[in-house]
Amino acid sequence: MEILIYVLLFVLLGLGALFVIPRSNSKGKGDAAHLGGSGKTSRSYTKKEVSTHNTRKDCWIIIKDKVYDVTAYVEEHPGGDAILNNAGDNSTEGFFGPQHGTRVFDIIEDFCIGRLKD
Ligand SMILES: *[C@@H]1O[C@H](CO)[C@@H](O)[C@H](O)[C@H]1NC(C)=O
Repeated sequence: MEILIYVLLFVLLGLGALFVIPRSNSKGKGDAAHLGGSGKTSRSYTKKEVSTHNTRKDCWIIIKDKVYDVTAYVEEHPGGDAILNNAGDNSTEGFFGPQHGTRVFDIIEDFCIGRLKD
């Protein structure tokens, strides 16, 4: 039953790889579904569509002409619930406000899910 040994080896190797390869993106479990690997900014959304995601548990915002799903970031936002002021709406003004340092420009790109349809 040599084949069994090969199969077993294969499985063990596979399991080993799972442990060796560091899991990036361990937090924000909801992200993967939206980003879906290739071309994460290729989708576009209407303003109406974005406006339905306007709660703490489901929070999308518009900055310039891009759409961001910041649901996973709401609890981390240093400015607290201010991030919800424009939930489901245009957050451009708030985003570029004086309370934000340049770091936010890097952070926000992780949450981009597409662009705004015009
Ligand atoms: C969002 O607000 C900004 C600043 O007030 C404005 O320039 C922009 O046109 C607005 N965008 C949309 C899609 O309403």
